[in-house]
Amino acid sequence: YRPNLNQAPQGDFMRPAARTRASSRAANGVGVQVEDTRICVVMVGLPARGKSLIAQKVVRYLGWLSITAKCFNVGSYRRTNTPQPSASFFDFTNKEGERLRKAAAEAAVTDMIKWFKSPNNLIAILDATNSTKSRRRWIKDRCDSEGIETLFVESKCDDEDLIMANIKEVKTTSPDYQGQDPEEAAKDFRERIRMYERVYETLDEDETDLTYCKIIDVGSKVIINRIQDYLQSRVVYYLMNLHIKPRSIWISRHGESMYNLSGQIGGDADLSPRGQQYAKMLPELVSKSAGDRTLTVWTSTLKRTAQTARYLPYEKLSWKALDELDSGVCDGLTYAEIEKQYPQDFAARDADKYNYRYLGGESYRDVVIRLEPIIMELERSENILIVTHQAVLRCIYAYFMGTQQEQSPWMEVPLHTLIKLTPRAYGTEEERMRADVPAVSTWREKGSKAVHSEVTPAGSPGLGGMVK
Ligand code: ATP
Ligand code: F6P
Repeated sequence: YRPNLNQAPQGDFMRPAARTRASSRAANGVGVQVEDTRICVVMVGLPARGKSLIAQKVVRYLGWLSITAKCFNVGSYRRTNTPQPSASFFDFTNKEGERLRKAAAEAAVTDMIKWFKSPNNLIAILDATNSTKSRRRWIKDRCDSEGIETLFVESKCDDEDLIMANIKEVKTTSPDYQGQDPEEAAKDFRERIRMYERVYETLDEDETDLTYCKIIDVGSKVIINRIQDYLQSRVVYYLMNLHIKPRSIWISRHGESMYNLSGQIGGDADLSPRGQQYAKMLPELVSKSAGDRTLTVWTSTLKRTAQTARYLPYEKLSWKALDELDSGVCDGLTYAEIEKQYPQDFAARDADKYNYRYLGGESYRDVVIRLEPIIMELERSENILIVTHQAVLRCIYAYFMGTQQEQSPWMEVPLHTLIKLTPRAYGTEEERMRADVPAVSTWREKGSKAVHSEVTPAGSPGLGGMVK
């Protein structure tokens, strides 16, 4: 992969059928010029080391960047022949167990190789313990013979308390233990880990021909070896930024602005009187939700977000990358004016809102790309409150919730609402808190007439369904 700062022309997104593998990858807009490369990310590590969690996050991150990725979880293949094994199934002296486990791995690898035949499919994650050198060599050989690169990612952690917490958090509710007593399940899972420990071989000096990333003690130490290209290094960089400390992210749009009132888009307007009221109420709304946690507040460089954040008693940072989607020649117009002056553009945006780029401005796809450093920094950080704009908020929200591109630009994100996102082991929890200050709804439904809806009293549903 070679970095390419020039974005592919927008038209490429409209004709997927005409794409070759290489051209479709070049056109994915993530700023990479790609050759015909496919990567199998091979997870390595004892059970309950966060492999599945890491795999699922990588898939979501890449998907958000329009890089098609898929996780092949060997455990779910194994469940088709052995749904609820006890620890002895994983004993390496159990020949039948060995046979069935190898069969599950074979089936997953075969499906993965089939999946790679489709031109858009770029990165597969093979999620299993892959805990022996011979298993890793077998995967590498299979991939080599198909021209698929391998990137081994090992999670190594010997903190007993953390492992026990992981078992309690996720393993006792796993389908492997459905309907069983959680105490018994935890005990059996601990025993399962012991079975693996007897044969486990960490990525070693005699495997230095492999491309790998070894994450030790949840990232407190990372060893990387033979990272070959741009996309591999991007995945590794992402992995290096992950942590598992409990935290939340709060996001809010700025308070209602004068432009929101007049129905104009873009610009750098001040808050309306009601927007100012929201700014005054925000500290209380936040402290109700965050308690005495110390937050850092991120705003855009536009006045309306700084004005919204002005009473918050926390450290503040303003980011250009959080500025609203640039609407180019349409900046300052109302949707009705755009529909009148640029009817074709108005229709084109409705037809494919994610990819539509305003003349002289941006698309949602462009916004996602400029938000990548924000996401990376968010992954590194703990409790953050982001005060930003409708389109930007939708993109950030889509990252955490895994929202599809066709849907994300159409999501309703009402004004005067604080959203709390809490990453959990397998997904993100969401809570919405509405301030009791009315505001216009700036949400426009696909194909609908181009007006910002009338003011609605707080507590009753508005035209755009603004009250949750
Ligand atoms: P298995 O081999 O049984 O599938 P696994 O390694 O895939 O296990 P997960 O199901 O992903 O384990 O475990 C999730 C738990 O691991 C979560 O509680 C999460 O907080 C924790 N976790 C995430 N990353 C790490 C890490 N790098 N080291 C240790 N624990 C982690
Ligand atoms: O109307 C408020 C606003 O933030 C505009 O400045 C911006 O152009 C618009 O929302 C983005 O939303 P959509 O993509 O739905 O037009």
